[in-house]
Amino acid sequence: RPVVALVPAAGRGVRLGEPTPKAFVPVGGTPMVRLAVDGLIASGAVHRVVVVVPAELVEAASTLLSTTTSLTGGSMPPVPVQVVVGGAERTDSVRAGIAAAPDAAFYLVHDAARALTPPELIARVAAELQAGSQAVVPALPVVDTVKSVDDAGIVTGTPDRAHLRAIQTPQGFAADLLRRAYATDVGATDDAGLVERLGIAVHTVPGDPLAFKITTPLDLRLAEALLADCSR
Ligand code: CTP
Ligand code: MG
Repeated sequence: RPVVALVPAAGRGVRLGEPTPKAFVPVGGTPMVRLAVDGLIASGAVHRVVVVVPAELVEAASTLLSTTTSLTGGSMPPVPVQVVVGGAERTDSVRAGIAAAPDAAFYLVHDAARALTPPELIARVAAELQAGSQAVVPALPVVDTVKSVDDAGIVTGTPDRAHLRAIQTPQGFAADLLRRAYATDVGATDDAGLVERLGIAVHTVPGDPLAFKITTPLDLRLAEALLADCSR
């Protein structure tokens, strides 16, 4: 039952502030999207990868990702990597990825910007799907106190931190469920948010601090430092 990874990599990276679209910014000399795809393949849990990029970078991405399949070595079948054009919002890009993989039984939706995600985390999400969960997300305890505020910035509440989690990717879904979630066009900051609106239980597995999303210049410096440590 094919597990297809969808990798949204079509964002501009406004908060990172580099001239290149974020997924193509190198970390330790390797573009984030390539690191993310390598991690998915190294997990051994993915049969096919669909990478969603800005229109002007389709060719560059195809070249960049054309040799990733050799990573698995001789023992496992090669993992095909396909590149498609994304859209203005992340949801548009994921929708383009879904359309490119109509044969999937499961989707793992994984941000290119989570370039350092350990393959073990990816395998954990896939295993939870294979065990029967329809929707699964990696979750970490929240370290800061989180408050809600009104439009004027006045605090309106403090949810109990014990019941809050920071959510990462890859997020895993039974394929027909994610297709159904995307059939309704409403905004959400993650894919599970759309699935929740269908009233489906979303399961959590333990996340990993290394799966942090590279969003700001500080995140990029952290990622560079972590990769420099590894190669020592
Ligand atoms: N993404 C995408 N298509 C979009 C917007 C985002 O495929 N229209 C992808 C990004 O490339 C990234 C992931 O979704 O891998 C998470 O989004 P985010 O971290 O917000 O990246 P950007 O949108 O590029 O960054 P920013 O919001 O700072 O511009
Ligand atoms: Mg964004």
